[in-house]
Amino acid sequence: MSKLIVLSNRVSLPHPDSQQAGGLAVALEDALNGVGGIWMGWNGEQSTEKQDTFDIIHEKNVEYHTCALSEAEYQGYYCGFANGVLWPLMHEQKKYIEFKAHEYQIYQDVNLKFAQHLNKIASSEDVIWIHDYHFLSVAHYCRQLGMKNRIGFFLHIPFPERTQWKSVKPYQELAQHLAQYDLLGLQTDYDQTYCFDFLRQTLGLKAHDANTLSDQTRQIKINCYPIGVHPTALQKRAADSIDVALPFSDLNNPNIQNIISVDRIDYSKGLLEKITAFDAFYKHYPDMKNQVRQLQIACPCRLDVDTYRSLYDTFKAKVDQLNQKYAESESPVFSCSFEAIAHHELMHLYRHADICWVNSIRDGMNLVAKEYIAAQDPIDPGVLILSKYAGAAEHMPEAIIVDPFNVKSMMKALNQAIHMPPSERLARYKLLFQGLKDFDIIQWRNHFIGDLNRSGQSVIYLPRNKAARYDAINLSI
Ligand code: UDP
Ligand code: G6P
Repeated sequence: MSKLIVLSNRVSLPHPDSQQAGGLAVALEDALNGVGGIWMGWNGEQSTEKQDTFDIIHEKNVEYHTCALSEAEYQGYYCGFANGVLWPLMHEQKKYIEFKAHEYQIYQDVNLKFAQHLNKIASSEDVIWIHDYHFLSVAHYCRQLGMKNRIGFFLHIPFPERTQWKSVKPYQELAQHLAQYDLLGLQTDYDQTYCFDFLRQTLGLKAHDANTLSDQTRQIKINCYPIGVHPTALQKRAADSIDVALPFSDLNNPNIQNIISVDRIDYSKGLLEKITAFDAFYKHYPDMKNQVRQLQIACPCRLDVDTYRSLYDTFKAKVDQLNQKYAESESPVFSCSFEAIAHHELMHLYRHADICWVNSIRDGMNLVAKEYIAAQDPIDPGVLILSKYAGAAEHMPEAIIVDPFNVKSMMKALNQAIHMPPSERLARYKLLFQGLKDFDIIQWRNHFIGDLNRSGQSVIYLPRNKAARYDAINLSI
């Protein structure tokens, strides 16, 4: 019998304090639940020596295969090529790209190491599903090792336009490696188009239709599968009457509107832009200091990468400056918690918040936007402010859509959210919640795996009729 083998750099290991501030691990945990299989990846630790053996843990129907990265692998593969080159490339932040040939070589070696483990554990009928930018080259090594399995790849982050790739020296080789997958899944229509164009032009492949490329030997399908959440489960979790300790106090004060944001401290999340907008907002509407406050979960991440370390320092300093500037307000205008909290606690926090603000300057999807809507009280829901540059904006047009580079747009959105009448909040929420149900995390998994199983045959999958929803309601500012 065939089994599903999933590979991602981050793995949500089944122990109680494995708190993940990252959409991929949260989503895969949900997606594997039910079907079971093997989940392979990094165990989050660094070893002095290179390790090629994997620890195996069984929990329910999932088998976890993880191994440490050596210090050199951690620096070269994780901090170096993955997060110092591919991440800024794919988030269109060229200025942060620092290409080093030896780090690229380590990235390739780590991809080979995971391919070798796949080769060891997979039988020929197993379906292999690789995730994210850490593993662009795994299928290439699997093929070199003689594996003929169906191998799919899903990119959780944006795919950049073809010309951007030229800033990364080995881009042609990476295109060849990507073409070894049977199915490439992307978050949005834009990503799909860019990926298709990149492979077609770079490798001179033949286009059969909008989703299929081929050379003399094989076909590659490229499709869009917008990742979702489990809306009814999250709604239920948010409504649980269990007592949870939340990181912010005075959440039920009827005189204050709470704005929740949940981000890793990453330049793609538009955190500094949001502080600038808050400053302008309080300057313009001084009375708001005591009526509206930001609650920010800000999870430090990738601190061994210089750009992240310096963003972390800058962000902390800017938050302090803002709070000092408006120190006469009854509580800090921008309350920050720097620790990740458990996912179910987050659902309670979402439900306590009147507004959720997602301000990404570039983002694959942004699950926080979807989770916030899922966790709302269906009788008295809150309002979502969503950056037009998050993938979620393509699927959530009933949010208040903002441009994080435009202070006026953000101030206008804040005002609109704060003063939105209950009937409008409800109308928007209903459409947004329905949208979450129309394509949830289980359908995301099933569609991808279904298409991967059929790869080699003619498969065209259209997520849902987004155009109709865009036409039916256009509430963005
Ligand atoms: N998350 C969490 N606890 C935290 C902060 C974040 O469980 O304290 C989860 C959050 O619920 C969401 C994910 O981390 O599922 C973040 O995903 P998103 O797509 O918004 O951003 P990413 O970090 O993947 O870029
Ligand atoms: C994003 C990426 C994931 C990554 C997560 C957290 O969601 O798409 O692949 O796991 O950020 O980042 P980290 O570097 O801590 O794994």
